[in-house]
Amino acid sequence: MTFYDEVGSDTFADLVSQFYARVAMDPIISPMYPPDDMKAAAQRLQMFLEQYWGGPTTYTEERGHPRLRMRHAGFHIDLAARDAWLGCMRAALAGVDMREDLKAQFREYIEMAAHALVNQPD
Ligand code: HEM
Repeated sequence: MTFYDEVGSDTFADLVSQFYARVAMDPIISPMYPPDDMKAAAQRLQMFLEQYWGGPTTYTEERGHPRLRMRHAGFHIDLAARDAWLGCMRAALAGVDMREDLKAQFREYIEMAAHALVNQPD
């Protein structure tokens, strides 16, 4: 049983949709996102997360190797941007129906991943 099997695709969809609803209202990071393409952006993140957690490998089939640092290189990600992103994701996670131990595991991963994507000194 992978994490993906435990929670299911609907939970990832719910998480990502709650996350993007918050991103759209965030003054620091919303300007980085494509205003006319938020649905597609949400789709990319959902596919990536599902693949990372042991679900279908659609992300790589459609987008190639994730190479997240490279894909984020064009965005100005300082500590404030990282914390804004994490704030949106933590709040989204709090709002989904998921076992507490799985939420803790997910939270640990996003903290680590978000920190690894900081590409600007403060
Ligand atoms: C640290 C703060 C972060 C900021 C400010 C940020 C910002 C962005 C922006 C502006 C995009 C472009 C949206 C699009 O058109 O797809 C993007 C894409 C993406 N981000 Fe982030 N991101 C952050 C952290 C993360 C983390 C921690 C992950 C993974 C756990 C992640 C995964 C992705 C993925 C998978 C894509 C789509 C890549 C593609 O296939 O083009 N991001 N991010």
